[in-house]
Amino acid sequence: MKKERYNVAVVGATGAVGEQMREVLEERLFPVGELRLLASERSAGQYLPFQGRQLRVELLKEDSFKNIDIGLFSAGGSVSAKFAPLAVAAGAVVVDNTGCFRMEPDVPLVVPEVNASEIAKYKSRGIIANPNCSTIQLVVALKPIHDAARLKRVVVSTYQAVSGAGRQAMDELSQQVTALFSGHEIRKQKFPHQIAFNCIPHIDVFMEDGYTKEEWKMINETRKIFAEPNLAVTATTVRVPVFCSHSESVNVETDKKLSAQGAKDILRAAPGVLLVDEPENNLYPMAIDTTGKDATYVGRIREDNSVANGLNLWVVADNLRKGAALNAVQIAEILIRDYL
Ligand code: A2P
Repeated sequence: MKKERYNVAVVGATGAVGEQMREVLEERLFPVGELRLLASERSAGQYLPFQGRQLRVELLKEDSFKNIDIGLFSAGGSVSAKFAPLAVAAGAVVVDNTGCFRMEPDVPLVVPEVNASEIAKYKSRGIIANPNCSTIQLVVALKPIHDAARLKRVVVSTYQAVSGAGRQAMDELSQQVTALFSGHEIRKQKFPHQIAFNCIPHIDVFMEDGYTKEEWKMINETRKIFAEPNLAVTATTVRVPVFCSHSESVNVETDKKLSAQGAKDILRAAPGVLLVDEPENNLYPMAIDTTGKDATYVGRIREDNSVANGLNLWVVADNLRKGAALNAVQIAEILIRDYL
């Protein structure tokens, strides 16, 4: 018998993504029975709003998952590594927003607009991984192009908002902007350099080959989600002084020729995509317009005549929503509709 309501735990409930999880669950009328908000001792005991009530934040503990159906995790990789298996053992299905399980072969890595059928594979580990925020918006925009013309090569450069690094990173940008205007010392904790009025081509740690881990996440996750292990992908990931929404410059080469007009027509009809491409009216996707929105915005579509079948696109989405909380809740919606 199908349940009418599902008990949901949000791990990392006080964080930038956790806040969006509550909002998205509420907005989309997810049939929540109990909502259990979990965080560290730093914020246990706080109250946070949900559906017009104030819910107490509880300390995340080993026995936090009794009677929970779905665990939405966004409290960092080490928290997921320890607590996701405990949640599964207690009977929950975990949708994990960290990098902890994404590349494990028996954990599905899902963007519903692209590979929703992979969700069926959750049964092997009880865990479904939510991709990296920059990967999600990239594959939502590229899936219809891949279906129509088959991707041969993808070159992506990102302009990533500070909220991708969490609440403290947003505070750091605010503090630095204010300090620079008022002649005070800037504080640097989350970023290796001043982020205010700067662009930092360094997200996550550097690997031996000179790429950052964030860049490798985009490459490997894109290949896994498209089930194209040999797809040529290269990435440069850059942190910019924007609070919310990641932007991406994307250059693709395809097997078949796709005109700019053809790409626009396909993208206009694609699930999860909103085409904003009227350069004559100065209309193109911008971070400030996409924040708080669900769609992946695509614009600036033009042919790249430096190669045989090339296209350029500009792709923008709210990294905390489609890049994290919304994608996780969409996965949970399919879980309860088809599996739980
Ligand atoms: P807390 O408020 O107790 O620090 P962000 O990505 O915005 O920094 O948020 C991270 C989220 O993960 C916060 O809700 C934070 O809770 C939570 N978190 C971080 N470390 C732990 C931990 N060891 N146990 C439980 N929650 C944690």
